[in-house]
Amino acid sequence: MISTRFTDLVGCSAPIQQAGMGGVATPELAAAVAAAGGLGMVAAVMVRPEMLAAMLDSIARPSDGAVGVNFLMPFLDGTDAVEVAASRARVVEFFYGEPDEGLVDRVHDGGALGFWQVGSVSEARAAVDAGCDAVVVQGTEAGGHVRGEVSLFPLLAQVLDQIEVPVVAAGGIATSRQVAAALAAGASAVRVGTRFVATAESGAHPDYIDALLRAGDGDSVLTDVFSVMWPDAPHRVLRSCIAAAAAHTGDLVGEERMGDEILPIPRFAVPVPTRDTTGEIAAMALYAGESVGAVKSVVPAANVVSELVEGAERFLGRPNMAPA
Ligand SMILES: Cc1cc2nc3c(=O)[nH]c(=O)nc-3n(C[C@H](O)[C@H](O)[C@H](O)COP(=O)(O)O)c2cc1C
Repeated sequence: MISTRFTDLVGCSAPIQQAGMGGVATPELAAAVAAAGGLGMVAAVMVRPEMLAAMLDSIARPSDGAVGVNFLMPFLDGTDAVEVAASRARVVEFFYGEPDEGLVDRVHDGGALGFWQVGSVSEARAAVDAGCDAVVVQGTEAGGHVRGEVSLFPLLAQVLDQIEVPVVAAGGIATSRQVAAALAAGASAVRVGTRFVATAESGAHPDYIDALLRAGDGDSVLTDVFSVMWPDAPHRVLRSCIAAAAAHTGDLVGEERMGDEILPIPRFAVPVPTRDTTGEIAAMALYAGESVGAVKSVVPAANVVSELVEGAERFLGRPNMAPA
């Protein structure tokens, strides 16, 4: 395994963070990544505090890896869930809002590390000023909601020149060669989203996973089409779902079961289709990064972690060699 400032800080053996992904990043996925030595993230979007506590308590304490919790700022309702997360997880992380010192203080008070995913140099500086222990730099190649306007490597270089805390690189990373490149550039870890959607433990709907497997390089697009429930927030999805949603007739594309409740999904709405979603899956928000061309099969999450890290080790040692 590769030891970095990130692995030292988090106390894990692999410099891999699985992205928090609403509906996809289930406790099963986070636990599998953590058991493989990485930082597995549970998505806490619209999860009530008592439900989050139960989810986190269900995860066995990993020996090599760690578990974190991800919050989307536009959906954060009070700080109860943050306190639940901080007292149970190693990392509590936020995305899509101005870095907030009060929130990071609460994370530290609970005993966790505070991270912020950012999309610009100024936001990275603000995260450090707010007391964050690490910053995730997201390039425009990323699947899901995209915070900034610059692609990963130019942004990563600028951020690394300006801040001291460990930096995690996110956006379009799905192969060991890319992991090696990000680490060689100075990142302390990589954050991987789309590649983990197509894993055995992911919460994604099987038809969404099939669409990722069929997609190639260039089949993802940055858009603002799926803006119902969350306006003014660009996101990267499969091109195919924009066409399917445009062709869909009717205001609803399906529904999702959340516990005892059935929630309708409006056309052009934000939720990703999960195993508990029914309806026209192809016309829902099928988030995908530029990394999608490298998603070729559904495998256990542990295989993704080991393939990325072992391959990166070889490339960092022998950059012109093919992976074994
Ligand atoms: C299906 C999906 C859902 C996502 N949901 C979230 C989320 O809830 N919170 C968050 O911080 N980032 C979310 N993201 C963005 C990721 O944190 C990360 O920036 C991105 O996945 C990296 O690019 P990649 O998908 O090419 O690996 C999501 C990404 C995907 C693909």
